[in-house]
Amino acid sequence: MANLRLGDTAPDFTAQTTQGDIHFHDWLGDSWGILFSHPADYTPVCTTELGTVAKYKSEFDKRNVKTIALSVDGLESHKAWIKDINETQHTEVNFPIIADEDHKVAELYDMIHPNANDKQTVRSVFVIGPDKKIKLIIVYPASTGRNFDELLRVIDSLQLTAYHKVATPANWKFGEDCVVSPSIATKDIPEIFPKGFKEIKPYLRITPQPNLN
Ligand code: BEZ
Repeated sequence: MANLRLGDTAPDFTAQTTQGDIHFHDWLGDSWGILFSHPADYTPVCTTELGTVAKYKSEFDKRNVKTIALSVDGLESHKAWIKDINETQHTEVNFPIIADEDHKVAELYDMIHPNANDKQTVRSVFVIGPDKKIKLIIVYPASTGRNFDELLRVIDSLQLTAYHKVATPANWKFGEDCVVSPSIATKDIPEIFPKGFKEIKPYLRITPQPNLN
C-alpha cells in the first residue's frame, strides 16, 4: 500500500481519461497539478464538486494549475455523467476524469480507505509542484464536499512560499502580511524584505507579502 508523504515524488502512471489516455508526469508538464478523487459517478456531492472545479478553471489557469479527477467508475459512465454535471451545474467540465476501474491509481495514491468504504475512493486531494513533488495532501470523507476556495488559498501559499522566504499565518489570504521564515536572522531581514517588517517576538516577524507591488 502506498505511504505517500509531503516531499515524495508523485507516483507516475498511465491512465484512461475522458480526454484520452495520459501519462501523468507528461500531462503535468511544467504545471502545478491537483489530482483529486471522488467516491463515485452520479452522486450528488461529487456532481457539485466537479461542477465547481470546472467553474474555477480561470482561477486554476491563473495559478498555472492543471486539475484531474478520479473515481473507480468506467469511461462511459464518466462521459455520460459529465452531461448531468454540465446540465445541473451550468458549466462545461473542462478537465479530464480518470477511469480507474482496476484501482491502479487509487492504490498508488492510497485513495481507498477500507474502514471508510472498501469499494470507493475517499475525497483525496494531492497538490503536486512542477518538480513533481507532493506539496499538499488533504483527505475528506465522502459525506463532506470540498471547499475549493480553500484549495486556491493553499495554492497561493504554496506558490508564494516556494519562491520567497516567508510562511503564511493562520487564515492568511493572498495580499495579507506574511511571517518571515525562522531561518532568516533578524539582522538580514531589511535586505531581503525591503518593504519592512515588524518584530512581535524574536521568533515572530511580520512582513508585507513580498511579491506584490
Ligand atoms: C456524494 O457524492 O454525494 C456522495 C458519495 C458517496 C457517499 C455520500 C455522498
